[in-house]
Amino acid sequence: MALLSVLTPVLALLLCLVVGYMLLKSRHAESTSGQEAKVDSRPWVDQDLQDDTEHAQREDGREGDDWVDSSEKQDIPHVPYSATRYPEETMVERSKEFYSLLNQRRTVRRISPEPVPREVIDTVIRTAGTAPSGAHTEPWTFVVVSDPEIKHQIRQIVEEEEEVNYRQRMGDKWVKDLAKFRTNWIKDYLDVAPYLILIFKQTYGILANNKKKTHYYNEISVSIACGILLAALQNVGLVTVTSTPLNCGPQLRLLLKRPTNEKLLMLLPVGYPAADATVPQLKRKPLEDIVVHI
Ligand SMILES: Cc1cc2nc3c(=O)[nH]c(=O)nc-3n(C[C@H](O)[C@H](O)[C@H](O)COP(=O)(O)O)c2cc1C
Repeated sequence: MALLSVLTPVLALLLCLVVGYMLLKSRHAESTSGQEAKVDSRPWVDQDLQDDTEHAQREDGREGDDWVDSSEKQDIPHVPYSATRYPEETMVERSKEFYSLLNQRRTVRRISPEPVPREVIDTVIRTAGTAPSGAHTEPWTFVVVSDPEIKHQIRQIVEEEEEVNYRQRMGDKWVKDLAKFRTNWIKDYLDVAPYLILIFKQTYGILANNKKKTHYYNEISVSIACGILLAALQNVGLVTVTSTPLNCGPQLRLLLKRPTNEKLLMLLPVGYPAADATVPQLKRKPLEDIVVHI
């Protein structure tokens, strides 16, 4: 009896602690599920389209303190627009000519060291910069490298990572899928091509006052710009290797002294095709396999 009367306050205390803990836990669970529901109910981006867009919103829906306040009214004038109107036969002819030009585009892995006019490179990049972009944020930086020493350092970084990719990171299936292209981790075009264009996506913008600005759909926007760049290169008779060097982004960003909001999307060696260049004899899907008219 004496033992029971000593234990009763201890047991009561223990019981209080257990009940208190359970109450706290259930409240925490309620509040987190509430937050999730709030976030889920107003996603700012389609789940399928998620890229590295960085966006800071406070509870009141406005941006965090280091982000630009987009609730401020920004008015720009609207001006008349008209496009060149071609007769239908001319449209058909032009569409075929453009298709024929781009149908000759190939990934060429043997590039000539012959110099290319710098003005051409500047103009094809200006052309790429006409791409549409989420909220007209133009989230791209084109780094053009012609310095042989920097090109060589880029090659060293890419080859080192690519060797690990080929030997370890890629599965057997990936290596087998690439066999027909006869590629490996040796990328001499990175030394040889007169220009390397490295395209960075800006995951957010940094304004003159150091505030951050959301770059909506930056990866899609920059990919469209890259597509236009490929077409512009084809238009002037230059070739490239579309490449997305796996695991090289951070090292190349540091080498090229790009800020942390920029991430490497694509690396394009650019030049004339080498006289002895060959390409795999690939077939493109016919129209009926790629289009659905409804
Ligand atoms: C996103 C992307 C990444 C690519 N990466 C490489 C690459 O790392 N190395 C390479 O030799 N080719 C690369 N390619 C080129 C493809 O192998 C090539 O486009 C494909 O085989 C079709 O050939 P074509 O470009 O001559 O039409 C890449 C293409 C794309 C679109």
